[in-house]
Amino acid sequence: MKIVILTGAGISAESGVPTFRASDGLWEGHRIEDVATPEGYERNPGLVHEFYNMRRAHLHQVEPNPAHRALAKLEQHLGNDLTLITQNVDDLHERGGSKRVLHMHGSLLRATCTSCREPFHWQGIMTVSSKCPFCKAMGLVRPAIVWFGEMPYHLEEIEAALVACDVFVSIGTSGAVYPAAGFVQIAHLQGAKTIEINPNLTQNAHHFAEQIQGNAGTEVPRWVEELLDQA
Ligand code: OAD
Repeated sequence: MKIVILTGAGISAESGVPTFRASDGLWEGHRIEDVATPEGYERNPGLVHEFYNMRRAHLHQVEPNPAHRALAKLEQHLGNDLTLITQNVDDLHERGGSKRVLHMHGSLLRATCTSCREPFHWQGIMTVSSKCPFCKAMGLVRPAIVWFGEMPYHLEEIEAALVACDVFVSIGTSGAVYPAAGFVQIAHLQGAKTIEINPNLTQNAHHFAEQIQGNAGTEVPRWVEELLDQA
């Protein structure tokens, strides 16, 4: 059985990472256009670096929760038959034990150079004077995070997994941002069973065959255990 799982900010909520569209969300005090667009970065790269430096530093204060760990357990059983796609830029899936995670919106722990475009690992503070380890350009290093108007990562691999899957599960995402919000329709058209796990009503809820209403930290381990019991 091939399973594709898409996760969003909700899976990390119980770990203490604020979601985007909650009233106490990460965007508070910052307009999206200022901190999550290429134009905002061009206008004020210092502000954008500060915003992501703060989020990167916050990773040290959070731990994976039972939902992240349950998906790692599922990977151990399914191997390559599980494709885990996340819109999250935190590293909680990896720290929860998952080995193969497709970060479609990038990662706080990666950087890229706007000159040579080489992506690389990044920890600590990034500034307007940070130097590219490859082409040595100064001041052209930026977070490897997909901003509005930019192309998400891994789309070919994601599309291939979606058209081949038997089950598609969406966990903790509001279904507001495309292309991720459209994955359920691709999977459904291929005949996959579609399941959504979320405590709240989402914008694309009507596309799912099954709804599991509740928090990821409780419902994901329960769903994984049930699946493994049936196997
Ligand atoms: P949102 O903040 O839009 O949605 C979070 C979802 O998590 C909501 O549907 C909540 O109901 C749900 N939720 C809250 N607590 C939960 C819990 N304990 N368990 C399960 N679900 C819970 O975040 P995303 O849908 O991930 O893109 O946002 C998608 C993209 O929008 C982000 O990746 C980001 C943002 O713009 C980029 O940065 C490119």
